[in-house]
Amino acid sequence: MGHMTEEEKAHLRRVEGELPPTPPETVVDGEDPKEVDDPKNILAFPLPPPTKVPAKVLDVDKKTPDAHVPRDPRLIRLTGVHPFNVEAPLSDLYNEGFLTSPELFYVRNHGAVPVVRDEDIPNWELTVEGLVEYPIKLTLKELVADYEQVTCPITLVCAGNRRKEQNQVRKTKGFSWGAAGVSTALFTGTFMSELIKRARPTRRARYVCMEGADKLPNGFYGTSVKLNWVMDPNRGIMLAHKMNGEMLRPDHGQPLRAVIPGQIGGRSVKWLKKIIITDQPSDNWYHIYDNRVLPTSVSPDEAAANPAWWKDERYAIYDLSTNSAIAYPAHDEQLCVIGAPENYRVKGYAYGGGGRRVTRVEVSIDKGKTWRLSKIDYAEDKYRDAGPRELFGGTVDMTWRESSFCWCFWTCDVPVRELRDAKDILVRAMDESMNIQPRDMYWSVLGMMNNPWYRIAINQENDYLRFEHPTQPALIPGGWMERVKKAGGNLLNGYWGERIDGEEPEVPVGEQTKEIKMTNDGVNREITIDQLRKHDSEKNPWFVVNGEVYDGTSFLKEHPGGAQSIISAAGLDSTDEFMAIHSETAKAMMPSYHIGSLDEVSRRVLSEGEVQADPSGTPRPIFLDSRSWSKAILHSKVSVSWDTRIFTFKLDYDEQPLGLPTGQHLMIRLRDPVTRESIIRSYTPISETTKKGYTDVLVKVYFDTQDRKGGKMTKAMDALPIGHFVDVKGPIGKFEYIGRGLCSINGTQRRVNRFFMICGGSGITPIFQVLRAVMKDKDDPTTCVVLDGNRLVEDILCKDDLDVFARDNVDKCKILYTLTQGPEDWNGLRGRIGGPLLKEHCCRSIEINTLVLICGPEALEKNVHVALNEQGWPDSDLLFF
Ligand code: MTE
Repeated sequence: MGHMTEEEKAHLRRVEGELPPTPPETVVDGEDPKEVDDPKNILAFPLPPPTKVPAKVLDVDKKTPDAHVPRDPRLIRLTGVHPFNVEAPLSDLYNEGFLTSPELFYVRNHGAVPVVRDEDIPNWELTVEGLVEYPIKLTLKELVADYEQVTCPITLVCAGNRRKEQNQVRKTKGFSWGAAGVSTALFTGTFMSELIKRARPTRRARYVCMEGADKLPNGFYGTSVKLNWVMDPNRGIMLAHKMNGEMLRPDHGQPLRAVIPGQIGGRSVKWLKKIIITDQPSDNWYHIYDNRVLPTSVSPDEAAANPAWWKDERYAIYDLSTNSAIAYPAHDEQLCVIGAPENYRVKGYAYGGGGRRVTRVEVSIDKGKTWRLSKIDYAEDKYRDAGPRELFGGTVDMTWRESSFCWCFWTCDVPVRELRDAKDILVRAMDESMNIQPRDMYWSVLGMMNNPWYRIAINQENDYLRFEHPTQPALIPGGWMERVKKAGGNLLNGYWGERIDGEEPEVPVGEQTKEIKMTNDGVNREITIDQLRKHDSEKNPWFVVNGEVYDGTSFLKEHPGGAQSIISAAGLDSTDEFMAIHSETAKAMMPSYHIGSLDEVSRRVLSEGEVQADPSGTPRPIFLDSRSWSKAILHSKVSVSWDTRIFTFKLDYDEQPLGLPTGQHLMIRLRDPVTRESIIRSYTPISETTKKGYTDVLVKVYFDTQDRKGGKMTKAMDALPIGHFVDVKGPIGKFEYIGRGLCSINGTQRRVNRFFMICGGSGITPIFQVLRAVMKDKDDPTTCVVLDGNRLVEDILCKDDLDVFARDNVDKCKILYTLTQGPEDWNGLRGRIGGPLLKEHCCRSIEINTLVLICGPEALEKNVHVALNEQGWPDSDLLFF
């Protein structure tokens, strides 16, 4: 891939540790020391900071589809372990200087990183197709050999940069970036226009669509930009294969990516495979449902209900907006005012959009009444000033180009004596079109392009000033926004939520709806993580939801989900599962069990990572772990009807048992591919509990219809590509069938002679497990009567197996199907499961010890409950799954 210049070789030797690192800020590019001595001849521009290629795959990544990607452990994970969405700690990012090392460069991956073997890189294929006269197919080797190569510094910014601030005001559909979703590198490659010129777009051609190699739940990642932007040399749109002089790293698109300067990072498609010229913007799912700023009046519900909002190109984001943030003072930095130097140097970054230069950065310490101008270092100009030259196998030639595609660093010296009287430090930037950052936030459903004045609060603590940034990234607690909100301040009052004299505390916007209070105001104990972890057993199970600690001891017996699920959560943070599975009624019961709040440090420890089953990677004798999520890979998917699938998940190894007792369930957790919101549901596999290495789950997919939204979980599962994983945890459930009539209900054993099994739709699955256990054991004398309700014949799940059970076990198995829309020739039962059918087929007799197992939609379970009680069945004989 081209010859290396001496400069590159030296750089690589530095990378490999042979040469001392170059000072991070500015490197003198001149061979002759005599010339260097003359300031007029110093052609100085920043070279990359020292870098260390991560050599090791981190333990946390080993069980994910990214097990082939070595990474830097300093990066803060914003969406759990996988996919990899990370930013560096803000101070570390800033300290690296103008250029960011690839290992600290922020990463935004929607899914798994494609596996690309080193030997295949030169033959990586890229096509140019669509509205062109000469479609092109070429390899990376050809792209590098046949096209002119350029090297340019470019800042990439995720459209979600600073989103955590929006999430504090009102939860958006996006995860919480701090202010480090931005990084800069020297990219080397070809101008995209060169390639497209050779393909000769036709007259109708307007857009350049791009597609990556990462297969995601909604297809390959893809988006588009306008053709005339690509053809405009001032916009500098590139196809890059190198970053800071080395081959792109896997997380950044190895071996080839688009780089669209001045626009949001989402347009710079990584692992680029296809360029398609069209007359319409991309119809890729990620182009439509991601990277948009919908009007602020569009709520999450409205956005979900009305796809028209997403299809309006006016709301798609291309150019970045003007933005800035303060890096120093850092969050929680303290300044002792006694003996402090006269000035404190406030420092940070700023960037503009669409190539527009940041023309001023202003700092205020009196809430925006007056502003002082800061000094700006335009490092990007140093490459312009240096004139054309070769670097990393490409020509740096920016002399002719006026656009600014990089961040700039600014500083502002503020007298410490003035800071002592100030409440906060504010910064705002303006660009050459006089676009200025606003004071107030523009909240929108995806939480993108957040760019109000960046504010650091100053807390006066005796002789110290303690600085507080607005937020901390991901779930890390801290920041003035969280503090102000907790105290009832309205973050949108135009005054950063500070109480104006006489103002009542407010409930923040967006939280007024359906926020169930789960804490007890009378409780104000602080609990440490060590105290929590001591209560990790059935003796005294404590668990955490949203940072609050609850004692489940007195609820073990009554818990409708069984004592086991409380015990499984003991000593752990179970926020996700709790919030996903429980009703508002259940949440409203929580204040009675509230015993305290986790302290700050403990919250941080908990938020840094949930417990992962066997992080060491040693094989576990049993797959399921009731206290931590395990990853199971989707192995295959078989459609058994138009809306029903059997998903087969692969466990860790072929001989591994699942570890699910008959009659119990497991939880499956998926994350919404865009919002990263976790979705958790419980399922009972239909494969035998003794099956090894794999487990089969039968799922009916609830698609969207004209009148109602479909099922979030089942649609997401249906969209899951083969090879992706889901998180699995369990067992859960209060019922277990031990065998030969012996059951265990919440730990108490009970013998039965007969089961009545009442179910509807996919409620058959737990029933099926128990029924099969009874039928497979020839010595099990228990009799079973199944009453299975559905709408149409084709809705009856597992019918073939059920019929075989009935045929082979005439003396102990009776299966009754009832249909609400049975065909004319249907000779089974008709109508809904309710009083009359139950009276006829589930008759109570005191001589036969019977347990009724019920599983189905809520309405069916309610009707059956009422009807059976009316017919004299006590609750102790009814078991709802
Ligand atoms: N390209 C592909 N193929 N897949 C992706 O998930 N993410 C996009 C963009 N290109 C993405 C992609 C988004 S949203 C951003 S912000 C940038 O890549 C991030 O680039 P980086 O991870 O190299 O910083």
